Amino acid sequence: MNILDLLPGQRIIPLVVLDRAEDAIPLARALLAGGITVMEVAFRSEAAADGIDQLRDLPGLVVGAGTVTSAAQVDQAAKAGARFLVSPGTSEPVVARAAALGLPLLPGVATASEIIRAVDLEMNVVKLFPASVLGGQGAVKALSAAFPAVQFVPTGGIGPANASEYLALRGVAAVGGSWITPAGLVRSGKFAEITRLAGEAIRIASGAQP
Ligand code: 3PG
Repeated sequence: MNILDLLPGQRIIPLVVLDRAEDAIPLARALLAGGITVMEVAFRSEAAADGIDQLRDLPGLVVGAGTVTSAAQVDQAAKAGARFLVSPGTSEPVVARAAALGLPLLPGVATASEIIRAVDLEMNVVKLFPASVLGGQGAVKALSAAFPAVQFVPTGGIGPANASEYLALRGVAAVGGSWITPAGLVRSGKFAEITRLAGEAIRIASGAQP
């Protein structure tokens, strides 16, 4: 299955770093209340796999694992119940293991050579990371012009001020990032603010069809 099939028209992938697995459910409910039905839990904290496991049966939510950088983490994510995987780079062992398990994967790229390698591995939807550092919308335009059959999900440095500009670019399927779920808000239990940010993101995305 293509990873884009899991994004029901909302074109936003919020990335979450969970300090505590018990924050997973209230955080997911806050996103759902704002209209976001997908959540990427990054393997950047001890709580990630537990958090995914808590979310695997939450009605209406599609939970995935982010920052997946090894085949062992693919297995860990699958066991926890992740329905998709995101990686900051493109690793052949990760691609192979995800394919073997039938899990949609969004691999990361930062250069033309990396895009060629991803396409060689039959990955035509890629995360462009870190988008703002690579040159922002200029980088997306240049790479998308060179690779018209590739769909990009820019992440890194995206927020309410620039998400609509990225989403309006040809070749951009969705955007991702942590701005909707900042660790500080999660840690302090400010879930109403997360619902507000989610609603704002959905409004931005729905007004920015290319
Ligand atoms: C990612 O891996 O997608 C990034 O860490 C997200 O970047 P951001 O925190 O700047 O949104």
